[in-house]
Amino acid sequence: MHTEVVTYWRGIIGTLVQRGELRQRTDGQKVLPQAVAVVEPQRVTFVLDMLRLGGVARETWLDPALHRQIRAALQGRRTFVADSAGLALVVAREPGAGNRRLPAKVTIAPDDLVAEGEYTVLLGDAKTGRLPLDLAGNERAMLVAGTSGSGKSGTIRSIVLQATAKCQPSRLQLALVDLKRLDFVALNALPHLVRSVATEVADAEALIGWCVQEMERRQVVMAAARVTRWDSMPQETRFPLLLLVVDECADFAGSRAVGDLVQLARKGRASGISLILATQRPDSEVLSRQIKANVPTRIAFRCTDATESRIILDRSGAEKLTRPGLALTNVDGTWRKVQCAFIPDEALGEWVALGGVIGPALGKVEVSLVRHALEHLDGAFTINPLYEAFQGRISRRQIVNLAQRWEMRGWLTAPAHATDPRRVTPELEALALGAKNGNAVTGGTGDHREAGVVTEW
Ligand SMILES: Nc1ncnc2c1ncn2[C@@H]1O[C@H](COP(=O)(O)OP(=O)(O)OP(=O)(O)O)[C@@H](O)[C@H]1O
Ligand SMILES: [Mg+2]
Repeated sequence: MHTEVVTYWRGIIGTLVQRGELRQRTDGQKVLPQAVAVVEPQRVTFVLDMLRLGGVARETWLDPALHRQIRAALQGRRTFVADSAGLALVVAREPGAGNRRLPAKVTIAPDDLVAEGEYTVLLGDAKTGRLPLDLAGNERAMLVAGTSGSGKSGTIRSIVLQATAKCQPSRLQLALVDLKRLDFVALNALPHLVRSVATEVADAEALIGWCVQEMERRQVVMAAARVTRWDSMPQETRFPLLLLVVDECADFAGSRAVGDLVQLARKGRASGISLILATQRPDSEVLSRQIKANVPTRIAFRCTDATESRIILDRSGAEKLTRPGLALTNVDGTWRKVQCAFIPDEALGEWVALGGVIGPALGKVEVSLVRHALEHLDGAFTINPLYEAFQGRISRRQIVNLAQRWEMRGWLTAPAHATDPRRVTPELEALALGAKNGNAVTGGTGDHREAGVVTEW
């Protein structure tokens, strides 16, 4: 038998003997209670045999004083009794875990990246220790809710940047929607993006629609290869995990994106599509029963009241959370509080660079835009004249997003004043001029993004 289980049981029996709780037979022997032990990663549960309780009354089993005494006998391990159909005595395997306080903030550095699991990142710290999140496994579809300022976007940003720091774009693709426009701007520099972060409803609908098309494309390829699950494809031919993040999905009420999200939630898993949906308003009609039924992982930051907590978690408690980044979650199947990992603004550049080391590519339209700026605008990357020259091939917003992204990458200079244009740097000039006419071009260190993806507007 498990020696750890025996040690715990001895401690429990010893405590009962010490307190004189056990019935004595006529021959002087004590009648011992009997139990079946269930060992789980965090706890051992002794399911007590109700017919063989050794004369210990139900009230005694439930007495907090008994548990304090058992705890002392078990080197600080917390115990409690669950009392429903029968009695079960639960021992926390980590000593003193129950008393650990969660840190007020968990800041993650590149050295803290989770080593195991290609798509496993750190969600944060729970009382039982670090809580990982497998973006391709059980936690492939997540619903994140909480009031304004409770930490949704900050936490999602940390999840995304950990994933991009671990996976090259050939293994991970990102589709990001952020209608607030501010929270994910820095992520625009990541080569994993299938398109720039969508900040307008129309772009977002198009991007979510693209994810559905991609799912259908993958399904066709997989059917032809007679594979039913993405993760059973050989590593060399397996599609990258496609992670779609929609920050504030309530903004899509009544839009066709809702139907697309339902499809992705229901059928995305088999073709390697993962989903993070965030909202301030979990009661909105966007979170239909269908979406909720197919998005089992829940992360609730501070909610305005218990009703909202119940809508998102099917239980109250999230209304009592006190600080940004503190959440209640059922990640790994157990309800727990977690202080979610955070990447401060000043470290964003370093994290983005970790994900961006692969080297980005220029598509056809992008090469033409740069050449136009060099030949007709004296190297200035000015939005309006570029838009006029390329009308019908690229939207104004897409040029603006591109300019922001290239500025982040150091391909365009940052203007000193808001009215000054960004300018093409020698690095971007070399990339664009090095491209053969009409061909996509790859940056120095080799890129895994399909050439031309950026031009598929
Ligand atoms: N995981 C975290 N840990 C600690 N602090 C955090 C965390 N995430 C965010 N914060 C802090 O809380 C502030 C608000 O966070 P954030 O923007 O993520 O909120 P939000 O829930 O997305 O709000 P909104 O619904 O208005 O977009 C941030 O400025 C940041 O400093
Ligand atoms: Mg936000």
